[in-house]
Amino acid sequence: MTRRFLFVLGSTRPDGNTELLARRAAAQLSADVEQEWIRLIDDPLPEFSDLRHDSDHVRPPSDTAAGRLLDATLAATDIVIASPLYWYAVSGPVKRYLDHWSGWLRTPGVGFEATLAGRTLWGVTALAHREPGVAAPLVGTLTNSAAYLKMRFGGVLLGNGSAPGDVLQDSAALARAKTFFAQEAPLARFPHETGAAVRQPPRPREEGALTR
Ligand SMILES: Cc1cc2nc3c(=O)[nH]c(=O)nc-3n(C[C@H](O)[C@H](O)[C@H](O)COP(=O)(O)O)c2cc1C
Repeated sequence: MTRRFLFVLGSTRPDGNTELLARRAAAQLSADVEQEWIRLIDDPLPEFSDLRHDSDHVRPPSDTAAGRLLDATLAATDIVIASPLYWYAVSGPVKRYLDHWSGWLRTPGVGFEATLAGRTLWGVTALAHREPGVAAPLVGTLTNSAAYLKMRFGGVLLGNGSAPGDVLQDSAALARAKTFFAQEAPLARFPHETGAAVRQPPRPREEGALTR
């Protein structure tokens, strides 16, 4: 199957650092790899409503933002979430896109879960903070979402920058971009499946437990 990369751009400004970094990484893809780029702010998704327990889900028409994104998502072998770091997590437009996955998972006839299983999720993010570890919530969101859908996960390409264009000064990020999509993308696993889960503190003794 020919590989087809869908780049989902989640910045709320055009030509930002995240997109610049994603384009540097995409430039290394071979010519036979198809690329589709969608900027979420150009064709905004409607507010998400949780209809899981009270209504049938209907496939969004192909001439709507949701229909276009659903079709593009189903057609991609590789989905690249290119989101700036907003409050340590994905941006609002990306969060809304992921929320819509919940509806698409339950839409009869779409086959969303079966289609995405085995396909690959990647992340690209730009952040102002110098310490990349602060992006852990975003990395966790993407890792766990890939694990939930039994997808492969290629990791997150991080770059530093605040004003648009700053990331082009981050030579380490630009170097990582050159080989990012050539990396192995193993099946995603939740932290509790890899032994990396956060340990819970022991539960305090319940009130009255000794009298039972
Ligand atoms: C609403 C908002 C929240 C942000 N939160 C963070 C943050 O939590 N940590 C951080 O390092 N940078 C944060 N930033 C800075 C952006 O991540 C940074 O400017 C990045 O380069 C923007 O990417 P873009 O140019 O692709 O839009 C935030 C910026 C905005 C507008």
